[in-house]
Amino acid sequence: MKTMIFFYTGTGNSLWTARLLARGIGESEIIPIGGASDDDMSGHNREIIMCGAEAVGFVFPVHIWGVPRRVVQFIGSLIMDTAGYYFAVAVNGGQVASTLLQLRKLLERKGAKLSAGYEIPMPSNYIPWGGPGPEDRIRERCAAAERKISEIASIVRSRGRGPVEKGPLWQNIIFSPAYRLTFRRVPGMDRSFWTDPKCNGCGICEKVCSCGNIRMEGERPVWLHRCEQCLACIQWCPQEAVQFGKRTPRYPRYHHPEVSLKDIISLARTAREGRK
Ligand SMILES: Cc1cc2nc3c(=O)[nH]c(=O)nc-3n(C[C@H](O)[C@H](O)[C@H](O)COP(=O)(O)O)c2cc1C
Ligand code: SF4
Ligand code: SF4
Repeated sequence: MKTMIFFYTGTGNSLWTARLLARGIGESEIIPIGGASDDDMSGHNREIIMCGAEAVGFVFPVHIWGVPRRVVQFIGSLIMDTAGYYFAVAVNGGQVASTLLQLRKLLERKGAKLSAGYEIPMPSNYIPWGGPGPEDRIRERCAAAERKISEIASIVRSRGRGPVEKGPLWQNIIFSPAYRLTFRRVPGMDRSFWTDPKCNGCGICEKVCSCGNIRMEGERPVWLHRCEQCLACIQWCPQEAVQFGKRTPRYPRYHHPEVSLKDIISLARTAREGRK
């Protein structure tokens, strides 16, 4: 195995991207970024990567115009080969802002260099602001993503240097402070979740939550305020009974069409077990 691709996903866009990248690069393994434990929060190193790999990639969604908390914590916990070849793909809903610049800094703090950082717009899963758009737009975005993934794969195969892509300046000016302001508030944002009467107590929301933030009490889910805002619970509920704030009852749900509930449940179980 020459390339290791670490990925994080809520609704499957990043998993699909990681799978296609691995296929395009060849001799690659995709590895889920596990749930952070208390050790990671205290800055202990728990992983040594690049063992045997010639290249390491990170594939993850943009969250609130930046790198998701879990990915920040994961990179913080790594011991990195400073001579290694690192690349990243920030999967997003159209506003990557300075996410990849932030990632570059996180790697630099570890003494490592980001050789190439790409952004890929995909259908948005941020349902509090609306659905992913009409079917034809979803198809167009996925098709464009597939083309870009193939280009990225050929650059990574030849260990090429690429750009570190970023959004327009106005995004960086407005949204980088917004990211910093909200970062600490993310775990408590689950206070806006609620369930409507369609909930039948199936427990799937608990199973798709990769950080163990949902507990079934009686027949209803309860959120425990260590949320990562991946939105898996709201997007994968088969009854569409999970809501966030006031507007989500009228918005359609989304997950990547080629990623299954079984995939996400299995990933979430592995991540939860990694936390113990
Ligand atoms: C909490 C949250 C915040 C998000 N913030 C952004 C953002 O700032 N910019 C953007 O383009 N997309 C944003 N999105 C959309 C996701 O980045 C996008 O839909 C991504 O493809 C989801 O990947 P996944 O299916 O692998 O989870 C956000 C999604 C969530 C859940
Ligand atoms: S997945 Fe939906 S229907 Fe099932 S318990 Fe959770 S909220 Fe209720
Ligand atoms: S509670 Fe929902 S949004 Fe929060 S981490 Fe779990 S699945 Fe993701």
